[in-house]
Amino acid sequence: MEGSVEGSVEDLSSTLFFWVNGKRHDLKHDKVDPEMTVLEYLRQKCRLTGTKLGCGEGGCGACTVMVSSKTRSGELVHKSINACLAPICSLHGTAVTTVEGICSEKALHPVQQALSDSHGSQCGYCTPGFVMSMYSLWMNRDHFNESDIEDGFDGNLCRCTGYRPILDAFKTFADDVHEGRESFPAAGHACNGRKKCRGKEAAYEGSAAGEWLKSHDAEAKRLFDKLPSSLPPLHYVGRHLGSPVEWYSPNTLIDVLQIIRHHHLKNLPLRLVVGNTERRIEKFFKRNHQYPLSLLSTSRVAELLEMHWEENGVRIGCSVDLSTVLMSFEEKANEFRRANLEWKRRILQAYVNQLRWFAGTQIRNVASLGGNIVTASPISDLNPLHVAAGCTLRLASLAESVGEVSYRDKRLDKNFFTGYRKVDVRPNEVAVSLFIPFPRDSDEFFFGFKQCRRREDDIAIVNAGMRVKLSGDIIVDSCFSFGGMAPFTICCPALSTYFAGKPWSREIIDGALEVMDKALHLPHNVPGGQAEYRQSLTQSFLFKFFLQVSASSHRLSSAVQPGEESCLSHLTNNFVHEGVRGVQHSCFPSGTASQEAKGQAGQSTKHMAGDLHVTGKAVYTDDMPLLPDELHCELLVSTKARAKIVSIDASAAELVPGFVDFTSAKDIPGVNWVGSILPDEEVFATSQVYCVGQPLGVVVATSPAAAKEAMFAVKVAYEELPAVISIEDAIHERSYFDFGPALPHQTALTVGRVTSERHRHMDKAEALDALMKELSEDDNVAIAEGEIYLGGQEHFYLEPHATRVEPGENDEYIVTSSTQNPSKTQKLVSMVLGVPRHKIVSKCKRMGGGFGGKETRSCFFSAYAAVASHKLKRPLRLVLDRDVDMATSGQRHAFLARYKVAADKTTKKLLAASVELFNNGGWSTDLSVPVCERALFHCENVYFIPNTSFVGHVCKTNIPSNTAFRGFGGPQGMFVCEVYMDHIARELGTTREALAHENLYRIGQITPYGQELDEDHVFVMWQKILQTSDYENRRKAIEQFNLANRYVKRGLSIVGTKFGMSFTKTFMNQAGALVHVYQDGTVLVTHGGTEMGQGLHTKVAQVAASAFDIPLSAIYISETSTDKVANTHPTAASVGSDINGFAVLEACRKILEGLGPYLSRCRTPQPTTDEERISTLAKAATLAHFDRVNLSANGFYATPDISWDWVKYTGKPFYYFGHGVACTEVEVDALTGDHKVIRADVLHDVGNSLNPVIDIGQIEGAFVQGLGLFTIEQVVFNNNGHLFTKGPGTYKIPTALDIPRDFRVSLLPNAPSKSSTIHSSKGVGEPPLFLGSSAYFAIKNACYAAQRDALASLASHSCKISGGGLSQGTTRTLTNGCESDEDTIDTTDCASTNGHTSLNGAQSELQTGDPPSKASPLSPPYFRMDGGATSERIRLSCWDDMNVRVRKGDFDAARHWAPLA
Ligand SMILES: Cc1cc2nc3c(=O)[nH]c(=O)nc-3n(C[C@H](O)[C@H](O)[C@H](O)COP(=O)(O)OP(=O)(O)OC[C@H]3O[C@@H](n4cnc5c(N)ncnc54)[C@H](O)[C@@H]3O)c2cc1C
Ligand code: FES
Ligand code: FES
Repeated sequence: MEGSVEGSVEDLSSTLFFWVNGKRHDLKHDKVDPEMTVLEYLRQKCRLTGTKLGCGEGGCGACTVMVSSKTRSGELVHKSINACLAPICSLHGTAVTTVEGICSEKALHPVQQALSDSHGSQCGYCTPGFVMSMYSLWMNRDHFNESDIEDGFDGNLCRCTGYRPILDAFKTFADDVHEGRESFPAAGHACNGRKKCRGKEAAYEGSAAGEWLKSHDAEAKRLFDKLPSSLPPLHYVGRHLGSPVEWYSPNTLIDVLQIIRHHHLKNLPLRLVVGNTERRIEKFFKRNHQYPLSLLSTSRVAELLEMHWEENGVRIGCSVDLSTVLMSFEEKANEFRRANLEWKRRILQAYVNQLRWFAGTQIRNVASLGGNIVTASPISDLNPLHVAAGCTLRLASLAESVGEVSYRDKRLDKNFFTGYRKVDVRPNEVAVSLFIPFPRDSDEFFFGFKQCRRREDDIAIVNAGMRVKLSGDIIVDSCFSFGGMAPFTICCPALSTYFAGKPWSREIIDGALEVMDKALHLPHNVPGGQAEYRQSLTQSFLFKFFLQVSASSHRLSSAVQPGEESCLSHLTNNFVHEGVRGVQHSCFPSGTASQEAKGQAGQSTKHMAGDLHVTGKAVYTDDMPLLPDELHCELLVSTKARAKIVSIDASAAELVPGFVDFTSAKDIPGVNWVGSILPDEEVFATSQVYCVGQPLGVVVATSPAAAKEAMFAVKVAYEELPAVISIEDAIHERSYFDFGPALPHQTALTVGRVTSERHRHMDKAEALDALMKELSEDDNVAIAEGEIYLGGQEHFYLEPHATRVEPGENDEYIVTSSTQNPSKTQKLVSMVLGVPRHKIVSKCKRMGGGFGGKETRSCFFSAYAAVASHKLKRPLRLVLDRDVDMATSGQRHAFLARYKVAADKTTKKLLAASVELFNNGGWSTDLSVPVCERALFHCENVYFIPNTSFVGHVCKTNIPSNTAFRGFGGPQGMFVCEVYMDHIARELGTTREALAHENLYRIGQITPYGQELDEDHVFVMWQKILQTSDYENRRKAIEQFNLANRYVKRGLSIVGTKFGMSFTKTFMNQAGALVHVYQDGTVLVTHGGTEMGQGLHTKVAQVAASAFDIPLSAIYISETSTDKVANTHPTAASVGSDINGFAVLEACRKILEGLGPYLSRCRTPQPTTDEERISTLAKAATLAHFDRVNLSANGFYATPDISWDWVKYTGKPFYYFGHGVACTEVEVDALTGDHKVIRADVLHDVGNSLNPVIDIGQIEGAFVQGLGLFTIEQVVFNNNGHLFTKGPGTYKIPTALDIPRDFRVSLLPNAPSKSSTIHSSKGVGEPPLFLGSSAYFAIKNACYAAQRDALASLASHSCKISGGGLSQGTTRTLTNGCESDEDTIDTTDCASTNGHTSLNGAQSELQTGDPPSKASPLSPPYFRMDGGATSERIRLSCWDDMNVRVRKGDFDAARHWAPLA
């Protein structure tokens, strides 16, 4: 056997065994590929598909399972882990529990029940992961608090719910559950019949589920008792794609060293593994593994698992997992505190604080200390701490005389970290333990820092460890270590030299910052980008360190000046955990809810698939069992942004075991040119490629792993051509799509209306220009002109694109896919195969989220797979990996806007607005034209502006085709509007909120596209939210807070939304349905809409339940399918319930026409129970059937009274409007750019809700998705058109900690839709998303407050604040576009730089020499801050001495796709 070793390791046991949900699995050699992950094993071998694949890189938590094992001392340990990273062999001797293993056919586990009952699942794809994280907590602890629960989900993402209902559900088990909160009616049932809603034990009390739970626990205990506490060493041999792979899991250090030596001597490749969190990523993404390979796990090696507390420090084994380090350090730190040894805990506490923000719980549960050190990532969170603390790593190797271990101690310093991911560990060595010293005495201080894009589960942008030792007040020793500032962890010796011998005082800070500026300088084009931000962070950290140290000692505390205390609280220091609170209000429409059967229209009933979601039984596309003969595909995509294809050579792929075929353009039997609207995309590229990610073909193989391997083996030669990547490039090249076919050859489209008689005869844009010119000459008119950019957004649905194509007889095909658009899927498959549509059935049962990303792009993936299926005559599936999904399937369109707006200085009324919009469409049109149209329709948002001209262009670039995303351009248009409102408000000397209030639409006013408004709900809700949010008082309190705090600022803002409901293409506003009544009184409904988590099926079923007067339980919706309801349109534009609900109602009415007389005969005068109602329908249906009455009908609905003609510019594009208002408060750490949302009040108009609890869920989910768009989410392309942000590791959606800490959501009561809508309800999917922008504008208000302090400092001649506020004489740059290298303030007017106004107003005030008083603070002028408000943008907008020092120019405006790679 290759690679076998001699000596004591010869008798390694060769059977891998573990338990899955109580069942033992024994795997002899070659039964399993040792490179297989636990997730692959569960899904592929055990058919346990409840555990989901969301990302495959440990970043989403969808794959969470619980692993139980015993330590050597016999202690039982339960860990939640990411099954997508864990190797199957790591399970040896353990028990895995999946979501299917914690319930029975009849009973749900309380964790599952609570989540389902509290509406904690929408699409349900993330749900099993949340359940298993909570279950692990449940198994580990008898008692937990709300904060334990909130912290417990730092490794789980949800894109649908906005997290609040998930947290609320699980908090019902907390001992300190917040009582007395007003909760949403249906959410109150979370206790599920338990006597009390508090604590874990309550779940056992009383109910039948409690009895089941006791037996479940007993069963689990019997299993856990069986787990071994010691195991013989394991040597397992298997094959990975035909190549031998061996897994060693020894128990002793000597065995480890012998295995290393054996491989070393024979030159056999060997990799060490502990948590596998780093190695799996390397294998998967960097593809730096070669086979044959041996994997040596050190997870069970006694010497590497020890932890010894010594007098002057702690020695920790390198295989100890980070959760254990965190817990043990926390315990010890508390012990020191109790012993009044506060100083002794400083280093331990810094580790605890840093580890809290290290990855998520599931990663920390397995990731090792040694793995982190030896991986030597430049942004390792722990290495800067090790370096600054002066830690020593103990390395072991085998001495010449066999059997003796020789040790080497190595200080972790610049001689250890020698290069990018290079460390001084020799090939024959293993890292055994790390020694972390305690501070030497009470005069030694230590702190750690980390700043990332998102607080939870994110890698650092910059991190640091800082230590200083004083003697008296004199600095005698120090060390400052940084991550993120070089290819490896570095020290800043210049800083230590500078500090040496100086007294600890504020006076030293200025000089220190100067030293850092030079020593830690980054060039503008530094890999990773963000040069200015990263440098400014190092300075902020130093300043924070200075304050922290000063505040830690009574002797030094006077160095902390008033107003600086609040910035002592940082992510990694004194972080205050604030639990999520909130209320959700709704009103039932006045009526007879109590008399209705359960679940009828208008009632708050839970998602029909809720129980399936929480138990993992809900079937998604890739969960379908494999058909006999089924194959797997992998997409081969372009790696060039624009190039000629010279050759494609698949010969090497053929050598990969399992390879079946390479399908390309020549195999397409039908047409190769298809498209979402226009046929401008090749299915598989033939001669040229137009973006990175464009498909060239599919590789087909017998397993997903083989298909992937073979795909990488295909060689493509290109001849590169110049490419257009950004909007600016496109404007420069005039690279635009036209607005055909209605407006062929037209590359600009205008929405607008000029009411001025003098200009009416002119073209809209010209008229507006002429009017604007006149207005700008009027002294009573304020004008604001500028440019703004809002980046794109990744859908990040938790379920990536997936499709399965199944050929049948006579060219029949069944295509089952995760799509919002079954009919377009059918159409594209029909086109590429040249098979008529009546032979193609396109189905979708459910999606794990869509958000527009599966409106058109999903159809293409089915078409790709169909070509291969047709060629091979075999069923096959194509499931995209997360990175491929993100890099190929398009995103929300980024927009650039140029605007000019005029307002009356006296009345504060808006007079005119012109906007020129550019969106980045990508390489094909897809839906970019209608997205642009919708943006143009929303550029005035909620304001009446008598004169408008909004012109749009769709930029043709060489990035993947951008596509629909919740809001479809509307949020981008409204964002531009609110930006110009902010700008003109500043010109008028008022706030955006005050100006908005003056200009809100009223009933009867006309939009720029001529639609008269019949509702003014935003005006009504604005008044209401001013009261309910206590706006005025809070605004004043924030003003006071900001005056009292220099580096922590708060902001409050209100934003409204008016969203046009209807597809702007009139013909798409139609829907069909098919309804069958059966003789047992149950009803099967099919309609054209698809279920992506939004609760559409539930709402539509409620409509049917009301129609037949039966409970919801008697209605079933199985799937959406083109053979049941044909010629459907995508489920989009928030009209799903409106149009499908009406179509179903129409079908029900048709059936009731025939059934009515029988029902009258069968009905008892007063039906009282749901069962009686079903029984009545059953009797009537049976009688009708015997009388040969049709019990099936189809229904059809076309939205009336809408039309739009672009050429004539006439019609009514929207049937009605959805409205909402949000008031949001944020807090910003001006030194780092970190922010938190303190409170959000949302009031939304859904008419008479069809299902209030589902609508509230949609509002919360959309708000949080909007929060992501307008704050932390950032799509980054590099200059070559490669998407950098293509996974959860680099692209950050909000986590549970990012949602408003106080989240109050209400539905506008007593506001039935004025238009004739289904049960007078309104659509809700998209409108609330824009309300998330209230956080952006609140952040901006906080930044204004920081700028005001900076200006105040400058204005005051006696304002020298060393290291803190702007000290006069050192200022260089104050605005995003205006730079002066002078030592004093440049007072020349720099308003025109880059087209946005800047300091001129404030500077003229400064010139007067009047120091600003606290009573009448300076009001900083408008400044440009592109969206979203990332930590970088926030930090660089909050002026002070530190960021002014490092900023070298306009940091962002010209770099919308910051080169990060
Ligand atoms: C989703 C995710 C989030 C992450 N977040 C963070 C974060 O916030 N901060 C951060 O710093 N890192 C983060 N990481 C990186 C990673 O988790 C850590 O570096 C982790 O500590 C690695 O430990 P491991 O046991 O999983 O290493 P493994 O993957 O098992 O091993 C990595 C390599 O380390 C070497 N190695 C391991 N043990 C030894 C030893 N005893 N002697 C010699 N060599 C050894 C081997 O070469 C091995 O190949 C993250 C990773 C993921 C996947
Ligand atoms: S699939 Fe494992 S964390 Fe995303
Ligand atoms: S319900 Fe969480 S991702 Fe859909």
